[in-house]
Amino acid sequence: MDTTYVETAIRIAAQAGETAQQYFRQGVAVRKKGKIDLVTEADVAVEEQIVSLLRQEFPDHGLLREEGGAENLEKEFVWVVDPIDGTTNFAHGYPMFCVSIGLRHQGREVAGVVFAPVLQEMFWAAEGEGAWLNGRRIRVSDVARIEDGMLSTGFPYDVHRNYEDVLGDLARFLPVAQAVRRDGSAALNLCYVAVGRFDGFWERRLNPWDTAAARVIVAEAGGMVSRFDGGLYSIFDREILASNGRIHDQMIRILVR
Ligand code: IPD
Ligand code: CA
Ligand code: CA
Repeated sequence: MDTTYVETAIRIAAQAGETAQQYFRQGVAVRKKGKIDLVTEADVAVEEQIVSLLRQEFPDHGLLREEGGAENLEKEFVWVVDPIDGTTNFAHGYPMFCVSIGLRHQGREVAGVVFAPVLQEMFWAAEGEGAWLNGRRIRVSDVARIEDGMLSTGFPYDVHRNYEDVLGDLARFLPVAQAVRRDGSAALNLCYVAVGRFDGFWERRLNPWDTAAARVIVAEAGGMVSRFDGGLYSIFDREILASNGRIHDQMIRILVR
């Protein structure tokens, strides 16, 4: 994998993260996309910044982005952008949010950059190049039993109407895991699996931009990403299971019941 792409994405994520942090410090106007699905002026401005920088660098690549939709998905290279993952956190002044930029080549994710500006943590990976956090190579944990594991999950935006499956998963994990966290950024949750802070992560009803970048980071850190049933995961699937690999089968058995 040619690392020029990921190097450019790191530079763009750093700039975008700086913009997001400026908005975060000053406070932002919030609008509702759904009952609990928010969008701030920062989501829109940061996405515009990322997209215009990507277009300058790679005018013939496609784009799939959260706020502005899709264009040229048939291209060999497609960038998948979530300008702020963790918008609800962001809007409440809670610093768990990030910029996420993934790259697809011929329909497969090959590189990803996730930048959390408040903590100044830059996660990145490219196929065959390993996974990195601020210049340090990262690896998943070696926890082998779910009872020793700290897991995380997220609640989808339709959870007010559709909570039974979400609660069912939680009810089965709570008694068996050492701890379960829910902190509102799927992309960072996946990166935290990659760096060994979490041992596993599951979530229902995510979108492609939530996972495109971070799935590469988990895989390059030696972790596993699949559907709940262990099948091959596509970013267009709505459910994702990620782990350090060692507790993957245990998590599948809990999710598929
Ligand atoms: C959301 C976050 C959250 C997850 C939601 C996502 P957004 O993305 O990743 O953790 O639970 O399902 O939609 O809206 O903040 O970009
Ligand atoms: Ca998101
Ligand atoms: Ca977002």
